[in-house]
Amino acid sequence: MVRQRKVAISQHKHANNNETNSSSGGSDTADTSRAFKLLSIWKTGVGFFCLVVAIYVGVLGYLETRVNTPFDDEKAVQETGLMVPDRYWGTYRPGVYFGLKSREPRSPVFGLMWYELGAAHKGIRHWCEQSDNLPTYGWQRHNGFTFGEQHISDPPHQIITSFIKTMGGEHGGHWTARINVTTTNKKPTTVGIIWYGALDESLGPAAPHSRLWVESGALLGHTPQLQNFRVNFVPHTGKVLHTSYSEAVAPGLHLLKEKFYSLLKPSKERYGRLGQLAVLEADPKLTEKGVFANFVPIQMIVETPFILDVVYTTEDLPTPPLKEDEYTKVLEEKKKSFDEEFEENFKLLKKGYSDEDVNIARAAMSNMIGGVGYFYGAGRVQSQYTREPVPYWRAPLYTAVPSRSFFPRGFLWDEGFHGLLIGRWSPEIQLDIAAHWLDLINVEGWIPREQILGVEALARVPKEFVVQSNAAANPPMLLLQLAGLLRARPQLFQHGRYRHLLDRMFPRLQAWYQWFQTTQKGEVPTSYRWRGREDDGLQLNPKTLTSGLDDYPRASHPSDIERHVDLRCWMYAAADAMATIAEVLQRDTSKFEATRDQLGDEALLNELHWSHHTQTYADYGLHTDGVKLVRQQPKAPNESPKVVRSVTVPPKPRFVTSAFGYVSLFPMLLMVLKPDSDKLGKILEDLDKPELLWSPFGLRSLSKASPLYMRRNTEHDPAYWRGQVWLNVNFLALRALRHYAAAGPHATRARDLHARLRDALVGNVLSEYKRTGYLWEQYSAEDGRGSGCKPFTGWTALIVLIMADEY
Ligand SMILES: *[C@@H]1O[C@H](CO)[C@@H](O)[C@H](O)[C@H]1NC(C)=O
Repeated sequence: MVRQRKVAISQHKHANNNETNSSSGGSDTADTSRAFKLLSIWKTGVGFFCLVVAIYVGVLGYLETRVNTPFDDEKAVQETGLMVPDRYWGTYRPGVYFGLKSREPRSPVFGLMWYELGAAHKGIRHWCEQSDNLPTYGWQRHNGFTFGEQHISDPPHQIITSFIKTMGGEHGGHWTARINVTTTNKKPTTVGIIWYGALDESLGPAAPHSRLWVESGALLGHTPQLQNFRVNFVPHTGKVLHTSYSEAVAPGLHLLKEKFYSLLKPSKERYGRLGQLAVLEADPKLTEKGVFANFVPIQMIVETPFILDVVYTTEDLPTPPLKEDEYTKVLEEKKKSFDEEFEENFKLLKKGYSDEDVNIARAAMSNMIGGVGYFYGAGRVQSQYTREPVPYWRAPLYTAVPSRSFFPRGFLWDEGFHGLLIGRWSPEIQLDIAAHWLDLINVEGWIPREQILGVEALARVPKEFVVQSNAAANPPMLLLQLAGLLRARPQLFQHGRYRHLLDRMFPRLQAWYQWFQTTQKGEVPTSYRWRGREDDGLQLNPKTLTSGLDDYPRASHPSDIERHVDLRCWMYAAADAMATIAEVLQRDTSKFEATRDQLGDEALLNELHWSHHTQTYADYGLHTDGVKLVRQQPKAPNESPKVVRSVTVPPKPRFVTSAFGYVSLFPMLLMVLKPDSDKLGKILEDLDKPELLWSPFGLRSLSKASPLYMRRNTEHDPAYWRGQVWLNVNFLALRALRHYAAAGPHATRARDLHARLRDALVGNVLSEYKRTGYLWEQYSAEDGRGSGCKPFTGWTALIVLIMADEY
C-alpha cells in the first residue's frame, strides 16, 4: 500500500512539471493557445485523477489498518504482572494437566509430564487430551489466588497435584508444587515423572535476558522480572530409581513432548518398553555457539507410592519455602478454610445437599477458577479491506476457558457466562477478566470472539477457525454479566479502585454496544441480523456460528432480509445493561433507555417476530423446510461421492417456525416480555410439553417436533444445537422463570416450572458426574447422557449457581 501511494504522488508531481515546461516554451498563436488549453485541461485532468487515486489508495490503506488498530483510549487493565502479587503465579496453563506460569508475557513456564514404564506403554501425559481416556481429572479445590488441589486418575495410578504460593519480596514470591502418585491396587509400579521449565521464544530469543539451566540437581534460572530463581526437587515418599536431566533447545512451547521423546536415550537398566529409553541426554544443539537452552526437563524414574515436592524460590525472599510435612499441614488448613468459604458463599450444605453433591459443586467451581489461563500473543483477523488475514496487536488475555481439553482458550460469549460464577467467588477476578477482554476491542468497537494467543493455543485450533472476521459478532453476555454485578454489589463501584476500573471500561463497553447497533442491524427498522452466514451448498441449514448457537436452524437460505429474534433480544438486554452501568457511573442513560424501551415494546416485537399461525416467536427470512442431504453421483470414476444439500421446495420469505427451540424462547429468556404478557403465557405452556422442549434432563435446544431435530448438518457434522440440553441457556431460562415467578398472571406456573427444571438439571448433571467423572459440554435429551467434549467446566459449571439458587 505505501509503495503504491508513493507512485501516485510522484506521477502527480511529474504532471505539474510538464505543465511548467510547456508554458515556458509556448508561443502566442491561437492554435498553440488552443492546443495549450487542451493540454492543460488534459493535464489538470490527469493531476486530478492522480489525486483521486492517491486519496482512494490512502483511504483504502486507512480502512485496511482499522481492523487491527486498538481502541484509542486508556486501557482498562492498569495493574498487571508483579503489581498484582496475589495473582502473579498461577496454574495459568489450563491446556496441560499441571503447569504453572506467571502473568507476564514472557513468563517461563513449568509443567508436569508422566508415563508408566512397563509393557503397557500408553504414551506420555502432558496436554489434557480426550484421547488419553482418563477416567477423571480436575481441580477439587482452587481459590484462584494462593492454592489448588487436583485429582487425576490414570489407572492404576492416582495422582494428586497441588500447589501453594508464599507471597512476599519484589519478584513474585515462592511456590511449591506437589506431585503425589499412588497405585490403586497398592502394588508398586515404576513411573517416569518429568518436571520441566521452558522459555517461550515465539516473541524472539529469550536469552541472554532469560536463561534456564541445571546445577547440582536443581533447575536454576533468571529473567528480568523474576531475577534469580531456583527450583529444588524434594522427593520424600517412595523410591527414586534414577534421575536424569537435559538442557535442550525446543522448537517451541507446542513441541515440548516431542522434544522430550527425542532426548530419551537407551539406559543400561531395563524398566520395560519406554524404560529402555530412560535416560535424558544433553541436546547436541547446545554445543553450537550462541545457542541457549530453552527447555530443561528433569526426569525421575520412581517406584510408587511416591511424593515429589517441587520447590520454587526467588532469591530476594528470605522466608523459607514450604515442603514436606509443613506443606502437608498448610495444605490441610487451606483445604479446610476453602471448604468453609465455599459453604459461606453458596450454602449448599445448608440447603440440604449431600456431602457428595457438595464435593461435585466444589470441583465444578474449582475447575472454572483453576481453568483460568494467561495468554499472550496476536490473533489473526480479517476485514473486507484486507486481502490477507493480518495479525491483531500483541496483547495479554487473562480468561477462563470452556474446556481444558477441547477449548483451552478464550471465547467471548462463554466468558460472559463464566463471570457469573467466578464473580460469586471473587468479583476481583471477574472484573480483571472482563477488563482484559475489553482491552481487546479495536477502534471499530469489535472484539474477536475466539482468542487464539500464543503458540500453545494455536497448535490446538483447526486451521479454518484461526482467522476472525470483524463482521462477526457474538452474544454480548459480558455486558449482562457486568450489569448483574453492579446491581448485586453497587457499593463496590461507588468510589475507589473498582469505580476507576469501571470508568475506564465504560468507553469500551459503549463502543462495543455501538458496534452491535451499527453492524448487526437488519433491513427493517429495529430488526437485527447476525452476519457471517454462508451457504456453501453442503450444509442442510447454513450455520450461524456468530450467534453462539452454531447449527441451530435458521432461514434455510441466508439473505439480507433475514431478521433474528435472539439477536434482537440480546440487543434489548444489552441496552438495559448499558443503562444500568451508565446509571451507576452517573452518566447519561437516556439513549440506552430509549433503545431498551423501543426494543421492549411488545407490539413492535410481535410485528417482526410473532407468527400468528404457530403462535410462537421466530426468525424471519428466506426459508423452506424442503431440504435434504443427498449423495451426489461422482463426476469422475475415481472421485468419492460428495454429500450435498438438495432443495426440493423453493424458499420464500416467511417466519422460520419449524425451528421451534431456544431461539423462540429468547423474548422470555432475556426477559423482554412483561410479566403480564399473554405471549409469555404461551411460551411457558410450550416449555412444559414433552413432545416439544421439556425433557427430564432439562430444556432441549430444538423441539422434538422440528424437522431438523437431531439431524446432522453435513456428512461430517452431527447435530450440535439441534436437541441437546445446554446448561447456559437452561441457566437463562431458570433466571427468567425466577423473575416471572415474582408477580403477574403467570407467576404460579413460572414458579412451578422453575422448581421442576432446576431439579431436572441438577439431578442429571450430578448423576452424570458420578457416572462418568466429568461435567460435559451438553447432555442428551433422550437419556441424559453427557455428550460433546469433556471436561467442560465452562458454563456447565453454572450448575453451582443453580444449586445455590443464585442467578
Ligand atoms: C498422597 O495421596 C494419597 C491418596 O492418593 C493420600 O492418601 C495421601 O494422604 C497423600 N499424601 C500426602 C502427603 O499428601
